[in-house]
Amino acid sequence: MWDFLHQLLKKRHRACYLKALSLLHTIEVNTVVEIGVFRGKNAAMLREVFPTAHLYLIDPWKPDVRYIETGNAVSKEQKTYDDALCEVQERFKKDGNVTIIQKPSVDAAMEVPDHLDLVFIDANHDYEHVKQNIETWERKVRAGGILSGHNYGHPRMTGVSKAVEEKFGTEFIRGQDQVWAKIIGANRDF
Ligand SMILES: C[S@@+](CC[C@H](N)C(=O)[O-])C[C@H]1O[C@@H](n2cnc3c(N)ncnc32)[C@H](O)[C@@H]1O
Repeated sequence: MWDFLHQLLKKRHRACYLKALSLLHTIEVNTVVEIGVFRGKNAAMLREVFPTAHLYLIDPWKPDVRYIETGNAVSKEQKTYDDALCEVQERFKKDGNVTIIQKPSVDAAMEVPDHLDLVFIDANHDYEHVKQNIETWERKVRAGGILSGHNYGHPRMTGVSKAVEEKFGTEFIRGQDQVWAKIIGANRDF
């Protein structure tokens, strides 16, 4: 176990860090949601480290104006998103344990079951969007599961730290590869 953990942490990769976190806290992970998938590079790594989990991959694969306006969009071109979606479909075409949902995150939430084990938010990094994603997806994570996201501490994406700190104060985990994570408690007030 310690050797495996060491190998995972040596990679300093967001998916590997999340796997390490699940092992350290003995969190069984059978359902994983990634919000913001693009070409599916992190999704492929999530599949590698959680080989038996069901993956829900959510992204509109469209140059939405609110996303472009942030100045941090991966592209403004529909063609790039079309190619990225094709890449994801190709990567997972033989994997029956993957659901691809081509919708913005909040609309997609209705199509994903509750009591999720792990949610990773890596979509629009604007403050309002991160806040909305935290509110929406916190409710979908089971007690003892992990709500997490990317780009905490990124100098051009200060909305992430603002939204995370506003929600959790100092009660969250800051991990490798700009991951923030919160292990959801049993006594939530909703
Ligand atoms: C940084 S990329 C994701 C990279 C991916 N997580 C990885 O590490 O390989 C951000 C993605 O978020 C998507 N996105 C933007 N707005 C979104 C929204 N409202 N809901 C879901 N995804 C969104 C974009 O289309 C883009 O593909």
